[in-house]
Amino acid sequence: MATIDLNSGAAAAVLDEVDLVDLPVIGAIPEDLNGVLVRNGPNPLGGRFKGNDVLDWWPEDAMLHGISLHGGRATSYRNRWARTKRWADVYSPDASLALLDTNPNVNVLYHAGEILALSEGGAPLAITAKLETLGASRRHLGMTNGMTAHPKVDAQTGELMTFRADWKKPFLRYGVTDAEGTSSVDVDIEMSSPSMMHDMAITATHSILLDLSVGYDFSMLSRGHRMPLRWRDDHRARLGIIPRHGGEMRWFEIAPCFIQHVVNAYDADESTVVLDAVRYPQYFRLADNGLTFEENPLGVLWRYVIDLDRGTVTERQIDDVCIELPRINEGRTGHPYRFLYAAEQPTNTEFRGVVRYDLESGSMQRYRVPEGDQNSEPVFVARPNASDEDDGWLLVCVYRRATDTSDLVILDGRNIDSDPIATVRLPRRIPAGFHGVWLPKDC
Ligand SMILES: [Fe+2]
Repeated sequence: MATIDLNSGAAAAVLDEVDLVDLPVIGAIPEDLNGVLVRNGPNPLGGRFKGNDVLDWWPEDAMLHGISLHGGRATSYRNRWARTKRWADVYSPDASLALLDTNPNVNVLYHAGEILALSEGGAPLAITAKLETLGASRRHLGMTNGMTAHPKVDAQTGELMTFRADWKKPFLRYGVTDAEGTSSVDVDIEMSSPSMMHDMAITATHSILLDLSVGYDFSMLSRGHRMPLRWRDDHRARLGIIPRHGGEMRWFEIAPCFIQHVVNAYDADESTVVLDAVRYPQYFRLADNGLTFEENPLGVLWRYVIDLDRGTVTERQIDDVCIELPRINEGRTGHPYRFLYAAEQPTNTEFRGVVRYDLESGSMQRYRVPEGDQNSEPVFVARPNASDEDDGWLLVCVYRRATDTSDLVILDGRNIDSDPIATVRLPRRIPAGFHGVWLPKDC
């Protein structure tokens, strides 16, 4: 497995919480880009990671970062650790019992009037747009025991589809929450063994769950591994397709693989589902010595076409550029779409560069990031009242090695290879982290 220097450079933790106002800007921030970009990621409470591989990075304490844009100005930046039991045990032991025992360091969701910081399977934490912790979710009660960090919202219905994968029975739960935050579907799905599931997809009629080639092996714990997960040749990879509001789960076998992140899915017609994802041909495969992992190959854009009538799947690689952290105009989630954005991943130890695919024309644009610098996941923000899918902006945090600081780069969603529309200069680093969300000003 690749070694990353987690305690210097792009991923390194910051040691404190700050509030900054009126940040310097190069260029002109669009006057109708009003809201907060919130980013989430691991930032150890002690300020240092304990080692230098992804298993030292992924589980560390949730820190949120917020950059506010208003009226053409970058009005503020702040960062806060999530106020959890873990945080209290270090900074405020008297508060420990009152705080949630969770570590929501992966993603942020805005749904049914609630902003939730999300973890990998743990309980969501309700927060404000100013990054204050509110506590357990009060509107998504079906999820309070935990869920994926990647639920999907259908913007046309306001429904949220989610799942919870667990190493204990039930191994898999699927749920739907309506636009008001009320649970409308909550079902167990029969699985013979637990599976590592990070993301899911939806169409207008179905939800898609991913039971792939990375599974559990608890014997690894007694052999000194920190995580009982590995590539399993004996675990068949399959896509599970369930009607959105419950019904028969149908499984479709695919070639062995692992998928961290879905791009999108949609119904191409009444019996055909298209799923696009970043696919790895191998992930967490133990080396022959049984002690270390082989290097993960990098992920590429892949398309699955599922024929529900015939019960068949065809699959193909769409492009050979190595990418991760794909995002789209989320108004198209679960529906036909044309454009996707993703971070380039030239090596296993860096995200550097952004791509924009036009799936209709087959063309690709690139925003290039200089060697040594690194960038976050690109977050697409639709222009208010836009009718075209790509009419909006792409927000990318870029770490500048020379100054050990981060910029927020605002790109034209239609032309990411043009010069940035604006660049917000932060006087400090936003660590690499995982995912981000744009919260419009009325959240
Ligand atoms: Fe993720």
